Amino acid sequence: MSELAALSAAIAKPAHVAEHLVYDFDSFHDPAYLENPHARILDMIAHAPPVFWTPRNGGHWMIISHEAVFKASRDFDSFSSEFVPQAQIKAMEAAMPPGSPHIPQPLPINIDPPAHTKFRAPLQGAFSPKAMMALKDDIRALAAELIERIKPRGGCDFMTEVAGPLPVQVFLKMFGLPLERQAQYRALVKQHLSNPEPDPRESLKRLMNVAAIMHDTLIDRRDNPRDDIISLLWKTEIDGKPTTLGDMENYCVLLFIAGLDTVMNGIGHGVRHLANTPALQATLSANPKLIAEASEELLRRYTFTVPPRIVARDMAFEGAEMRKGERAFLFLPAADLDPREFADPEIFDLSRENRAHIAFGTGPHRCLGSHLARIELQVLYEELLARLPEFRLDPARPIRYHGGHVMGPDTLHLLWNV
Ligand code: HEM
Repeated sequence: MSELAALSAAIAKPAHVAEHLVYDFDSFHDPAYLENPHARILDMIAHAPPVFWTPRNGGHWMIISHEAVFKASRDFDSFSSEFVPQAQIKAMEAAMPPGSPHIPQPLPINIDPPAHTKFRAPLQGAFSPKAMMALKDDIRALAAELIERIKPRGGCDFMTEVAGPLPVQVFLKMFGLPLERQAQYRALVKQHLSNPEPDPRESLKRLMNVAAIMHDTLIDRRDNPRDDIISLLWKTEIDGKPTTLGDMENYCVLLFIAGLDTVMNGIGHGVRHLANTPALQATLSANPKLIAEASEELLRRYTFTVPPRIVARDMAFEGAEMRKGERAFLFLPAADLDPREFADPEIFDLSRENRAHIAFGTGPHRCLGSHLARIELQVLYEELLARLPEFRLDPARPIRYHGGHVMGPDTLHLLWNV
């Protein structure tokens, strides 16, 4: 269990919340969740209402059934992604002295349709399956190098040695940034993960740091385009207008937030399952063609992101009275373990009939990086199973998990024979 587990203070239930919809769950600090998140989720599905209100972390809604998560994800008029309304951001910028740095915003993830569409469109081409497939060989070479480095040691913390560095190095490569920046990026990812519910000013500072690290490269690629994502995005238009430095900074902070710790945690969940299941390692090593399907079933079985929304109007949703301004978490990990959607959801089953998981979300904000993430995950499993002998969890060093919006292992100590 994490040493940091201390429940946040419970607040009083607002009068409009029905008593039977209250369920006490702290998605950042619940001790059972931090010990074994998906076991805790299965227990929650059995005992909590499909939509409930928790008094923890300032009080908020949790949407957990597949049906309710699906509905809420698509209903952006009722569940908004605009935590700070665009009008307020414009007012903040207007109030700043001339020459102040631009406030980077992760767009399109924090803006609702219809404006969402114009910011999403340029990224769609940049992250298309074809564009991502072109990176596959480089990703494989990076994965192979990281695994060969740990192989002679007979054991390691997989999060620090492989799961963390791989997405960071892929990011640097895609963006045409020098590998020397790796330490800076990993420090920023760590900061991001260790502070899951930050003070908005801290979060702004972090985003400004990301934009500052990227600044010189952004300018260089505008003036000297190369074959990388930054150069490509400079050539796109947003709503018929040329991309500005501000737009480019927005995209960089978005991709930093959305792309780095997600893949890292996905690798952690998947490799933990493999380490616990030697028979699956043997099956996949003997039949590498099954790895793509296995990777999908691992995403369903261990879905791990929890996108937040803000309730946009007073309304009744799935029997719950909600008020404008309340927060609601789309608990995707529970939706993908809902027995009404997936038979025997706790079983990892390669021959499952329904494979339509929502680990990448659903609705207008569905993950733009899913093609890249899938390649990173599959290639990593392929290289791991081809290069390491059978591996197992180190019984002396139990896994520590973090909760929050991207839940996953902090440490994953593996052992193998050399
Ligand atoms: C296994 C890894 C990943 C998972 C599970 C994941 C999951 C998600 C989910 C659930 C959303 C929807 C968020 C919402 O509804 O508010 C999302 C959005 C997004 N993801 Fe991913 N993601 C992963 C990897 C990546 C990568 C590698 C990138 C790119 C480098 C990326 C880029 C994005 C972007 C840009 C959005 C925002 C899309 C929009 O708002 O229209 N993701 N992701």
